Amino acid sequence: MELKLEKFTKRFGTTTVIDSMDLTVNSGEMMALLGPSGCGKSTTLFAICGIHRMNGGRLLFGGQDVTTVPAQRRSVGVVFQNYALYPHMTVRENIGFPLKVQRKAKAEIASEVGQMAELVQISNLLDRRPAQLSGGQQQRVALARAMVRKPDVLLLDEPLANLDAKLRLEMRSEIRRIQKETGITAILVTHDQVEAMSMCDRIALMRDGKIVQLDTPEGMYRNPKTQFVAGFLGNPPISFLSVTAGDTLSLGEGLTLARPQGLEASGDIVIGIRPEHFGPQYGTGLEGVISFVEPQGREELVDVRLANGQEVRAILPVGDPLKTGQHVNWGVATDRILAFSQDGARL
Ligand SMILES: Nc1ncnc2c1ncn2[C@@H]1O[C@H](COP(=O)(O)OP(=O)(O)OP(=O)(O)O)[C@@H](O)[C@H]1O
Ligand SMILES: [Mg+2]
Repeated sequence: MELKLEKFTKRFGTTTVIDSMDLTVNSGEMMALLGPSGCGKSTTLFAICGIHRMNGGRLLFGGQDVTTVPAQRRSVGVVFQNYALYPHMTVRENIGFPLKVQRKAKAEIASEVGQMAELVQISNLLDRRPAQLSGGQQQRVALARAMVRKPDVLLLDEPLANLDAKLRLEMRSEIRRIQKETGITAILVTHDQVEAMSMCDRIALMRDGKIVQLDTPEGMYRNPKTQFVAGFLGNPPISFLSVTAGDTLSLGEGLTLARPQGLEASGDIVIGIRPEHFGPQYGTGLEGVISFVEPQGREELVDVRLANGQEVRAILPVGDPLKTGQHVNWGVATDRILAFSQDGARL
């Protein structure tokens, strides 16, 4: 079911936290709400599920205005960061609880709980209590409980934040599988760009209560509208350099790069170079000294300090040993350079 926020505004006291936000999540789509801490992601989610009253604007589910519909009558399932499972209930009772509240018949509850447990693959754990489960298993129970009423919309607030790295990886693909299998419209709140990029169809990147860009993961990575967006996506992050654009891009100290095709700006600008677009595979061009090497298994991160004092990061397959202090002269994929004005707008 399509979910639509129109000019959504939220204030706490006199502080406006969300200012006239528009957002459409298509039916069956998984949308990431991504952004730094405090940008208003949870506030948006709370407004959608009805915990927070909206101060302005409308919320539509499948074209129906639900702005003033109380939380318990909205067809929404929510998974919070801390799962909020009932500790004294078994897994079976936890999952079945929303149906019990609805006074569904016992047999129906048992059958729905069974189906949900199968979907999230915890059928063998139904008689345990939450304390007897691993973090990932608790997460599955929370997901089953959120989905047991077959809501139109699934809201996930940092659902993986409490899991260790390996479990997080496993649950990422699990949540995506369940979302796709059920075709449910979902919003994933996260401040982890890798999570947003790997799990979602589209990403709404928020800053200070506003959506600054909405795009597919690939689209946003390749074509960021601002320096903020370019810096937020990508791990390891993009390197920014101050340059003067003339016949070439001049970095000072005699360092120059070719102008990317289509760049029309001149004067002082900022360029962004992603780590995969800098290295010996692109010939020569930027001379410097290796200031840092971090092996990461198959690849290594290499920071190069240029003669002008600025640093550029490369990510390279582990091969020839690279050492701190080593002098290098590496090239840049010129056509992949991103250019920004000094106030951060894309050129
Ligand atoms: N109940 C409240 N009363 C007053 N201010 C609030 C309240 N809830 C949130 N805020 C403020 O609103 C802003 C947005 O908070 P929100 O919880 O939505 O951020 P977030 O993007 O989810 O951040 P995080 O990634 O840290 O969870 C913050 O400045 C926060 O301090
Ligand atoms: Mg939050």
